[in-house]
Amino acid sequence: MTLDLTQNDISEVVAADRQHVWHHLSQHKQYETNDPRVFVEGKGMRLWDATGREYLDAVSGGVWTVNVGYGRESIANAVRDQLVRLNYYAGAAGNVPAAVFAEKLIAKMPGMSRVYYSNSGSEANEKVYKMVRQIAARHHGGRKWKILYRDRDYHGTTIATLATSGQDQRAEQYGPYPDGFVRVPHCLEYRKQWDVENYGQRAADAIEEVILREGPDSVGAIVLEPVTAGGGVITPPEGYWPRVQEICRKYDILLHIDEVVCGLGRTGAWFGYQQYGIQPDFVTMAKGVASGYAAISCTVTTERVFEMFKDAPADSMSYFRDISTFGGCTAGPVAALENMRIIEDEGLLENCTRMGERLLANLRTLMDRHQVIGDVRGKGLFCGAELVADRQTKEPLDEKKVQAVVADCMAQGVIIGATNRSLNGGLNNTLCLSPALIVTETDIDRITDAIDRALSSVAG
Ligand SMILES: Cc1ncc(COP(=O)(O)O)c(C=O)c1O
Repeated sequence: MTLDLTQNDISEVVAADRQHVWHHLSQHKQYETNDPRVFVEGKGMRLWDATGREYLDAVSGGVWTVNVGYGRESIANAVRDQLVRLNYYAGAAGNVPAAVFAEKLIAKMPGMSRVYYSNSGSEANEKVYKMVRQIAARHHGGRKWKILYRDRDYHGTTIATLATSGQDQRAEQYGPYPDGFVRVPHCLEYRKQWDVENYGQRAADAIEEVILREGPDSVGAIVLEPVTAGGGVITPPEGYWPRVQEICRKYDILLHIDEVVCGLGRTGAWFGYQQYGIQPDFVTMAKGVASGYAAISCTVTTERVFEMFKDAPADSMSYFRDISTFGGCTAGPVAALENMRIIEDEGLLENCTRMGERLLANLRTLMDRHQVIGDVRGKGLFCGAELVADRQTKEPLDEKKVQAVVADCMAQGVIIGATNRSLNGGLNNTLCLSPALIVTETDIDRITDAIDRALSSVAG
């Protein structure tokens, strides 16, 4: 069998997948009786599977990644040209696309200064954890080694990043985890933990309470998503971020913003943190950096952080002693450069903001027709609708029904998502929408029409 589908019976491809591929986040028993879905082609907002069926993709490749849409020949050409010129050299040396992309990226991130390349969101986050630990060892006499993370946030799939999983179902059965990672409460006002006027301020104050409990001298950093993604599309309440920033400054705690989902345009700004006036010490990004055309992630730091690793050249243990083999692939930064050019030249941040407003407005209209929608949240083309069995009690809708809504949309040819094996307590009940930034008004309406029909037939 070859990759040339014209020479293959597609059923052989599906059989090979069934026989040999272990799919992510999937219970495989189902494939003993059903074929796995195999996608064959993508163009713009659309995908085709092995049976020739067309889909409108409202989740940018399933996990909010393909921000500029499928089938971008200019990215493929740029990657191809670079691969034949120079595909790889380890990141201890420089290469042309890595230098040019770093300069362009930093120009979009006032206050930030250095880019460390690797190739997944988990890895980018783990780099920060290592930097924080090394800063603690070298600059704080071993203190300030703890890292705070927030309930419902997610930062990756490795053991250390799962130690900072605010999503218990993702972390369960993979422990024990390393010490020094401490949870703070989430900030989702719809699932209130305090009955107060200024919820944003209160939710941030909860972080200070944890710092005081642990001892400010032991806490080095906090990692937060600007808008929580897989934990239920949680937009921060008013007043939350200014207070978080104030607390970090007060206790000399480094602020690590995980932009793996929000990064590069998803919320209508280059980065989610820029929507809230945050000044981070670390920013990590992956998925949207090259829209999935190549694997790339970046750990971006301030010059102040960077300086802490070059202050003692005579000490052979003083610099960041880390390597990521594939961080030296040139395909990532060259794809990222072209991805960024497309976002700029096609005005995709503006389109994201306009289309995001339409998507949110459509979802709010659906709330009037469907009692099952308890809450609608979002920023730019990053939206969620939380489904409940009862609006008064906010009892979550049965997860099977939530999944049935997703399946019904799929049957209508529209791919939407939902929180998936993330949270306990039946709280995997939020529909997730993250269409590519090129989405049109017609596409948006088709997406919400499909949800409308699915809710009518599945959720009553
Ligand atoms: C906010 C966030 N951080 C980190 C990650 C991990 O990224 P990766 O799967 O590339 O390791 C994810 C993945 O979904 C994510 O949503």
